[in-house]
Amino acid sequence: MIMDGLLNELNKKLVKIRAGGGEERVARQHQQGKKTARERIEALLDPGSFNEIDAFVTHRCTNFDMAQTEAPGEGVVTGYGTIDGRLVAIYAQDFTVLGGSLGEMHAKKICKVLDLAMKVGIPVIGINDSGGARIQEGVDALSGYGQIFYHNTIASGVIPQIAVIMGPCAGGAVYSPALMDFIFMVKDTSEMFITGPQVIKAVTGEDVSAQQLGGALTHNQTSGVAHFPAENEDQCLQLVRTLLSYLPSNNMDDPPFQETSDDPAREEEELRHILPDNSNKAFNMLDVINLTVDRGSLFEVQPLYAPNIITAFARLNGRVIGIIANQPAVMAGCLDINSSDKAARFIRFCDAFNIPIVNYVDVPGFLPGTKQEYGGIIRHGAKMLYAYSEATVPKITLIVRKAYGGAYLAMCSRDLGADQVFAWPGAEIAVMGPEGAANIIFRKEIETAIDTQQVRQEKIAEYRRLFANPYVAAERGYIDVIIDPRQTRRYLVQALELLLTKRESRPAKKHGNIPL
Ligand code: HXC
Repeated sequence: MIMDGLLNELNKKLVKIRAGGGEERVARQHQQGKKTARERIEALLDPGSFNEIDAFVTHRCTNFDMAQTEAPGEGVVTGYGTIDGRLVAIYAQDFTVLGGSLGEMHAKKICKVLDLAMKVGIPVIGINDSGGARIQEGVDALSGYGQIFYHNTIASGVIPQIAVIMGPCAGGAVYSPALMDFIFMVKDTSEMFITGPQVIKAVTGEDVSAQQLGGALTHNQTSGVAHFPAENEDQCLQLVRTLLSYLPSNNMDDPPFQETSDDPAREEEELRHILPDNSNKAFNMLDVINLTVDRGSLFEVQPLYAPNIITAFARLNGRVIGIIANQPAVMAGCLDINSSDKAARFIRFCDAFNIPIVNYVDVPGFLPGTKQEYGGIIRHGAKMLYAYSEATVPKITLIVRKAYGGAYLAMCSRDLGADQVFAWPGAEIAVMGPEGAANIIFRKEIETAIDTQQVRQEKIAEYRRLFANPYVAAERGYIDVIIDPRQTRRYLVQALELLLTKRESRPAKKHGNIPL
């Protein structure tokens, strides 16, 4: 009997906490096309799998009218549950409670979840929807953010950290998602910025809307801050589930294997005809990738940002791989500042989480120009060299067509530690393209010739014969096998299976100093 009464009291308290900021604020949330924190957790996790912790935590602020202000759940719902049967830790800010603003105890709840995730080795998902630092709590709120940044940094490379932005995320608050591995944003309802439109107007006079400044498209397409755009919250949460299907739970784990009925030796006639006759013409590298990986397994990361390089997860005979591929259909597949940053960060993620890397190469070089040089292409491009050289996961490189100069090296050549290098028979591995090369090394012969055009063409052809093929590189062992494009899948699968037991170590050090 006593227990019945006690349970009754407990249930009443929980009902109140679960109601968040009350009907009115919940209705307002829905009117804006947004779910509540609890609805988002329900939609994301396997049905009935959520276990809440810290439901009773509350603030201890007495400034202004805070002593009388209740904050159910302290404006953030935290706990753990499963996605496709695998454990994840989760927190979701509750905008209906004090605008999801972050105070001392709100931050402690988040840090506790991060600690838990690290201790047991499971991914953490943070759903952000918050007015930022709780103004009434002053420096305690700032300290709370500092603690979260610290925890995010310590957890980096130990467990996958996924940020989902489903409302405002402004000021210093943006730095927690920025320190995590992947950021999801929803069109029209997500916003991320350091300073909002009013401050910008006051300081610089610029007029910009919140969406233009920091909406999903801005950060997925222009700034490269975000990785996945979604049309609405349901699609966004589905994308999070998909991403997790490629990720291990922690850095000591392997990514999940998924049985496939796709023949590992499947041959594709189409690959023999996929390259245009003229090597200066574009083709879509996504077609090559799709024809070689397990059917339907390609999942692009940052598809809208720096599309001259493709970063993606996929599977080969059921095993997860990370793909870095030049995209000749955009800027001829040149490497530039943005694509170098995009690739380098993805390579480091894959290496940290035991995901083998497969590179599809068709790269004419680094993009020339003052914009690139002044922007620091030297230090940005260096990130790719560093990331590949540092990576000890299996590294497989397929040279599909061009591999010129520094960009050849930067796309994981043998010298940066590629374990297996394949090339199609039309591959061109050289210091630069035949036209440019002939103009430099045969300049005198061309200039003094009677028919300069004819001599230039002859010299270009001579250079092409000598270098614009895979054989010189194969003679030196820079390429392991020159393959029939039709059999690409079989070679990639076999190389991956060969390398599953790869063990490679680096000298002990505190950490390296990647160019930033
Ligand atoms: C306390 C806050 C709050 C905050 C919102 N609320 N933000 N309470 N601290 N930071 C409360 C509101 O008082 C309101 O309470 C409820 O949340 C909903 O807010 P509304 O303004 O009614 O919602 P909306 O119109 O949708 O506007 C959302 C908003 C706006 C754009 C986020 O609330 C806003 O501008 N908030 C302040 C943002 C801000 O400047 N934050 C500090 C950033 S600096 P009631 O009771 O009426 O429902 C920062 C520094 C971090 O974060 C540094 C880390 C290093």
